[in-house]
Amino acid sequence: MTSRLRWPGVIEAYREFMPVTGQTPVITLREGDTPLLAAPALQERIGLPVPLYLKYEGANPTGSFKDRGMTVAVSKALEERQQAVMCASTGNTAASAAAYAARAGIDCIVVLPIRHIAMGKLAQSVMHGAKVVAIEGNFDDAFRIVVEITGRYPVRLVNSINPHRIEGQKSGAFEICDRLGYAPSYHAIPVGNAGNITAYWKGYKEYREAGRGRRLPKMLGFQAEGAAPIVRGEPVADPRTIATAIKIGNPASWKGAVAARDESGGLIETVTDEEIIEAYKMLASIEGLFVEPASAASVAGVAKLGREGYFVRELQAGVPEDACVVCILTGHGLKDPDCAIQAAEESVSVEADAEAVVELLGLTEPVASHT
Ligand code: F0G
Repeated sequence: MTSRLRWPGVIEAYREFMPVTGQTPVITLREGDTPLLAAPALQERIGLPVPLYLKYEGANPTGSFKDRGMTVAVSKALEERQQAVMCASTGNTAASAAAYAARAGIDCIVVLPIRHIAMGKLAQSVMHGAKVVAIEGNFDDAFRIVVEITGRYPVRLVNSINPHRIEGQKSGAFEICDRLGYAPSYHAIPVGNAGNITAYWKGYKEYREAGRGRRLPKMLGFQAEGAAPIVRGEPVADPRTIATAIKIGNPASWKGAVAARDESGGLIETVTDEEIIEAYKMLASIEGLFVEPASAASVAGVAKLGREGYFVRELQAGVPEDACVVCILTGHGLKDPDCAIQAAEESVSVEADAEAVVELLGLTEPVASHT
């Protein structure tokens, strides 16, 4: 296994699985190699009968899993002599595209549903020098616009309908298999535009074909209740959820998500905003992992399935002894501090005086002990 110090980024780490040649200029920020953490305390809290692991994608250079795909998409754009890349985004794709384009020395244009994106992500796109076009619409409007424009002008689309994005993102599945020594039995993941569930399923299948995954997981995808087109079986015109990253009504990789669900014998279900926020708080307070709300959908979904007896039924049906669940935590909590402050209990301030602080905390003087 490559040590952390020598980790070269996902293209070099998994070159034989990537669509690159000796001629491809590799644009990397050394993305990938993110922590896979056992989470026994959270497992116990949600009453899960199998071990729980969390893959913390917030540890990627721009704070989300998008970097895995963007290293490949931008490297290929450069190889093909493109001068600019473009995407629609709920924020993370834009932040990642902007960073990798900056490193590649090419232009980046991002089209954002400005009323529906977290401020941290906008700050990233601006700082990396992207041309930011704010639209008065939602993600689906932005996506329609970039597809049309990149069809007419020499600008490379780097949304996940660009197959190079999927190629890079499948590296997450390779890392999980490498760390565990095998593929998990259940893979839980938030679903928005549905590129990531598509990519993970491709990764697990390719690794097993290469003799490196042992089995295939059941893919468990979760959409926010107010933005759940795949669960409902039809596009949602006005998607609503607190988890702005997955506020999408007509996912581009719809078919890929359905294939991942059906081929793996998994499911795609909804979680409410309340369930998302509960999981969001538990991850931060029990496991020390601050994620953005959309990321918590994977844990919220596993908790919900647990309550409904899904895993118990699965175990009764004869799941192997080394069964485990891996939840993908897709993005960093600092992306959306407003949501955290709103979710937290209100803080009280007192005058700048030690006694006032002691009183507020209710601390009492230690009683002298008798020896
Ligand atoms: N989690 C986070 C933090 C995301 O930013 C996204 C997607 C998802 C989950 C869902 O992944 O789209 O592959 O199903 N964000 C996109 C963006 C849409 O523009 O940043 P998906």
